[in-house]
Amino acid sequence: MSYFLSLFSYSFSTEQQTSLSFAVQDLYLERQTSETALQSAYQLAGASSFTTSSQNPRLSRALPVSLRTIISSSLSRATQNPHSNFKHHHTPLTMCKTALHGALHALPKCEHHLHIEGSLSPSLLFRLAALNNVPLPDSTLDPSFTSISALEERYLHFTSLNDFLHYYFIGMSVLLTAGDFESLAYEYFVRAHSDGVQHAEIFFDPQAHTHRGVPYKTVLEGLSAAQKRAEEEFGLTSKLILCFLRHMSETDADVAYQEAVSLGHFSNGTIAGIGLDSSEVGFPPEIFREVYAAAKEAGIKRTAHAGEEGDSSYIQKALDICHTERIDHGIRLVDDEVLLKRVAREKTLVTMCPLSNVRLRCVGKVADLPVRRFLDEGVRFSINSDDPAYFGGYILDNYCAVQEAFGLTLAEWKGIAEGAIEGSWCDESRKKALLSKVGEWAEKYEGVA
Ligand code: ADE
Ligand code: ZN
Repeated sequence: MSYFLSLFSYSFSTEQQTSLSFAVQDLYLERQTSETALQSAYQLAGASSFTTSSQNPRLSRALPVSLRTIISSSLSRATQNPHSNFKHHHTPLTMCKTALHGALHALPKCEHHLHIEGSLSPSLLFRLAALNNVPLPDSTLDPSFTSISALEERYLHFTSLNDFLHYYFIGMSVLLTAGDFESLAYEYFVRAHSDGVQHAEIFFDPQAHTHRGVPYKTVLEGLSAAQKRAEEEFGLTSKLILCFLRHMSETDADVAYQEAVSLGHFSNGTIAGIGLDSSEVGFPPEIFREVYAAAKEAGIKRTAHAGEEGDSSYIQKALDICHTERIDHGIRLVDDEVLLKRVAREKTLVTMCPLSNVRLRCVGKVADLPVRRFLDEGVRFSINSDDPAYFGGYILDNYCAVQEAFGLTLAEWKGIAEGAIEGSWCDESRKKALLSKVGEWAEKYEGVA
């Protein structure tokens, strides 16, 4: 049962939903008062006299005293907590104008393409830089680092994947401790949960951390702690995918791989599989054939970014030479009819990231993506957020953008959700449970336009 969704089912204004949701999210981040917060949220949800209008955008005067007290104390603690995102800018909650918005929000979702380092917001970036004494680029050389809002503004104007990656690697340099990684991942889980995510498979880039002196074990300690909390608190299951940076050598990728192997992280389930990310063009998948072959031999799951900026040959080589079971992005599949039909026939999951593709100028607009073509050809795909703090939207924003561009039917969304579950790397019993949630969702929303 989603506590956030229960809040949303009452007649609150969008502004009130946003305030409440973030206040409750902060209470989760503060941990100790979450039970009280939820109880009060339920009470509030039952209060029929709750109306609109709040002069204070954060705290409605109409809130029951108990919740108001909890939220105010959460706010005062949050403003002192360097890891809490509340103080500065929250990405507003999504609200598309389509008739299916409520159904899309409630749809049980799987996320398969999320770089955890890409969920680092400019506000958390600045706060951690100060807390950890990490110097950011000189703002006289790059004015984007003058302030949080200047950096947010810069993120609106990426010109390419490499232009984005420049900021992405600078951003993650503020992450030093296990606590930093835990907070980052936990905040992502809170947001994902409020967007209706039930199961998330998350990329991380170990080389980008070990090469600046942050041990692999520190990263894993933080991420694993957040995963555990998300499962205990929200029932949100998750997996980690270790990504190799393709702009670094195959030897370097192998070092990262061997470290995870030596700690038993693939065999004990700490990490579910491997992936390949960073600059695509000029770094084709076959460079990494040996490490992929070793992973295949060891029964480790495999995916790779391919066909994002690179042409369809990157997809074909990922499949034929690296034997990947998924393709991340994969939008250039439409340029090779034979490959497209093969991916459809083999039910290879393509993890699409609509808002990312627009921000990085892989397409001009969401409507230019091959969503309709994939549906018509039976290509299995999921909709994902990639680097939500950089591309202006979390998973529900991406669902909404697709709906606004393509006007899919409820039955089409059901099929997408089922395909996403089937293509997940969770066990069969979890898949069964998720499929039945989708079935219940379909019954509930049947008849909605
Ligand atoms: N790393 C983080 N986001 C990425 C993307 N969209 N493509 C390639 N590498 C990435
Ligand atoms: Zn990606």
